[in-house]
Amino acid sequence: MILDYKNVNDLDRYKIMSGSIVPRPIAWIVTEDDGVLNAAPFSYFIPISTNPALVIVAIGKKEDGSDKDSLANILKTKKATICFPNKDNVEQVQKCATPLCKSESEVEKFQIDVKKELDDYPPMISSTQTALFCEYYDTYNIEGDTTPVILKINFQYIEDDRINERNHTKIESIGRVGVTFKAMVDL
Ligand SMILES: Cc1cc2nc3c(=O)[nH]c(=O)nc-3n(C[C@H](O)[C@H](O)[C@H](O)COP(=O)(O)O)c2cc1C
Repeated sequence: MILDYKNVNDLDRYKIMSGSIVPRPIAWIVTEDDGVLNAAPFSYFIPISTNPALVIVAIGKKEDGSDKDSLANILKTKKATICFPNKDNVEQVQKCATPLCKSESEVEKFQIDVKKELDDYPPMISSTQTALFCEYYDTYNIEGDTTPVILKINFQYIEDDRINERNHTKIESIGRVGVTFKAMVDL
């Protein structure tokens, strides 16, 4: 079957793309504005370059057409801490996708434990096995309601026993397949 994308509506295209381009990593992004900590998951997310160390995350709009809080905070403060959920965090991740008003913190409302590692970056979620401390790099203008944001990784946290002397890592994050979550298995 060949699907002609110009004949597929936005919702169906989302369902087909997100169910086919799998698994996608989930960036659980912590940002901050005036002391309010924001945490939200994003799965239109991927690394795009090692030198410089860049990732891209595509952030849509709120229902009222305004910027999602994560995007507004990144554009304002130029900083983001990307964490990665594991299989124990599914419920919290889902809660963090609830639209809240900007002055309300997911971290406080859903009692997400965070830890300040670096002075100049938002705290990381304590349960993450690794975290990327990023600064704003660029945005890419595209048609429609999505803003692809490029972030540069300046520092990384990783649990000591998840990286060896040869820099091989063992991270057990969950990914997104369509609207379900999947854990990784070794083959
Ligand atoms: C697993 C998962 C992945 C998501 N991926 C994205 C995404 O890539 N882009 C996006 O705009 N929203 C995505 N969402 C929805 C946002 O998390 C949701 O809109 C959230 O309320 C945004 O929060 P904010 O306004 O605090 O930034 C995702 C939700 C879930 C549960």
